Amino acid sequence: MEKKWWHGKTAYQIYPKSFCDSNGDGIGDLRGIISKLDYLKELGVDIVWLSPIYKSPLADQGYDISDYYSIDPRFGTMEDMEELLEEANKREMFIVMDLVVNHCSDEHEWFQKACEDPDGRFGKYFYIRDWHEGEPLPTNWRSYFGGPCWEKLPGHDDKVYLHVFHKKQPDLNWENPELRAEVYKMINWWLEKGLAGFRIDAIINIKKALPLHDYPADRDDGLCAIQRMLEEATGITEFLNEMADETFRKWDAFTAGEVFDEKDEELPQFIGDRGCFSTMFDFAENLLGRSDKGWYDAQPVTAEMYKKAAFQAHKRVEGIGFLSNIIENHDEPRGVSHYLPEGQVNERSKKLLGGLNFMMKGLPFLYQGQEIGMENCHYTSIDEADDISALDQYRVALDAGLSEAEALAAVDHHSRDNARTPFQWDDSPNAGFTTGTPWLRVNPNYKRVNLAEQRDRADSVWSFYRQLIELRRNPEYAEAVVYGEMVPYLPEQKNLMAYFRKGEEKTLLVLGNWQPDPQEVVLPGPVEEVLLNNCPGLCLTDGVARLEGWQFAVLAL
Ligand code: GLC
Ligand code: CA
Repeated sequence: MEKKWWHGKTAYQIYPKSFCDSNGDGIGDLRGIISKLDYLKELGVDIVWLSPIYKSPLADQGYDISDYYSIDPRFGTMEDMEELLEEANKREMFIVMDLVVNHCSDEHEWFQKACEDPDGRFGKYFYIRDWHEGEPLPTNWRSYFGGPCWEKLPGHDDKVYLHVFHKKQPDLNWENPELRAEVYKMINWWLEKGLAGFRIDAIINIKKALPLHDYPADRDDGLCAIQRMLEEATGITEFLNEMADETFRKWDAFTAGEVFDEKDEELPQFIGDRGCFSTMFDFAENLLGRSDKGWYDAQPVTAEMYKKAAFQAHKRVEGIGFLSNIIENHDEPRGVSHYLPEGQVNERSKKLLGGLNFMMKGLPFLYQGQEIGMENCHYTSIDEADDISALDQYRVALDAGLSEAEALAAVDHHSRDNARTPFQWDDSPNAGFTTGTPWLRVNPNYKRVNLAEQRDRADSVWSFYRQLIELRRNPEYAEAVVYGEMVPYLPEQKNLMAYFRKGEEKTLLVLGNWQPDPQEVVLPGPVEEVLLNNCPGLCLTDGVARLEGWQFAVLAL
């Protein structure tokens, strides 16, 4: 594998709306981010991915862009953005933005013009079809946020447009070369400004199976999941390669694809040496336990499920490319609340989960608040939900016959709001996020879980993440941590997740006892040094490691 500038780095996702509010309007902003760059540097972060800050009606929290060339005033100004790029540069940090080009906002000029003249130039930027009241819609696809993915074109009773996400997110027609050229122009404009690259949103959806048609219904609503169409669609890499040639490759930009439902044979084209992305996220663990029926039918994730999925996902790309590893993002519940069993969420188990994920081969991405072990934030009523997915899934659960309390419990666990509550900086009002009223409630546990309490405490979750990042940079071990082959160790031993990272010179053994009870692990050979440990001690005698409950360690062999 060719070595790339970003391989040894550590990445961090900021959800700007909830990170730090500089002017007291309750909404996090760019000046808030600038004020925290030193904090991120101290943690050891190199690459910062910002969820969307472009001009947007925020129907899907910025993933609905109405102008790709401006900053939404709620987040700041273009001058603030330029200052952020400059300040990051001074600190040798890299800023990556979200690239949302499967769709734009219905308030984007392109869509407004398409509504004015559906048969004209801008009509061809979208998927617009004729339709008459009483007829079936052009296809029976269910949008990701629920309901049919066709909506009446404003101002036209006999036309509908396609939106695989929210109706305020019309899909862009990538078959149209003029649209593609507009997208590339915009990407280059941002790269020219000094951006290091992009996280690429929902990208698998840009290629539709043509001609658009129905698939067998999979729920009582008579609709089918978009995945059926995606399975059939081929040829996406032609678009992606063209985009990479016209933009990213010219700048050696870093790109992380948000890719679901990819086909095995596409992997080298996605993340191989000549791939169209630098990397893509490993979502195998996040998808565990999910059900086609909806969140209400999801099963809890066990240690065995997690381990198998992680090993398989990494084996699948071995020798091909680098995955990006996450335990959570702005679309997921908090990892510690999702993967750790109820009643077992504590600092030790949080470090185990973080450590097992961070030490896997690939690029580690931390999501804001993960470094202090932020947890899910429970709803007391559905009225507290902001997330459009949560509201849809609540309805899906009620339709399936669940009581209101059961439906609330189902969305409570999976809601995207869990990860979107404000960052917990300290124990002052609103966790130090804002002096005003936060746009989304602060998790009431902030008095206990906050950065100020953890920053100077040597055994805190935060200090542990710092150690993980330091190890990744340690000249003696970096080669093994970054490039070492990931080989499972004793994969059949229950509730043990263990793997080697076999570098050219160093071999590391990562051990995690994923249960509250102690467990013994036969060691593969003599231990040279204990590099990381989430417990005060580690018992290594007679070739056996006696791990305490939730103990995690990295050993140099
Ligand atoms: C991605 C984003 C998510 C958004 C969706 C539509 O999955 O991560 O937040 O809702 O795309 O843009
Ligand atoms: Ca603000």
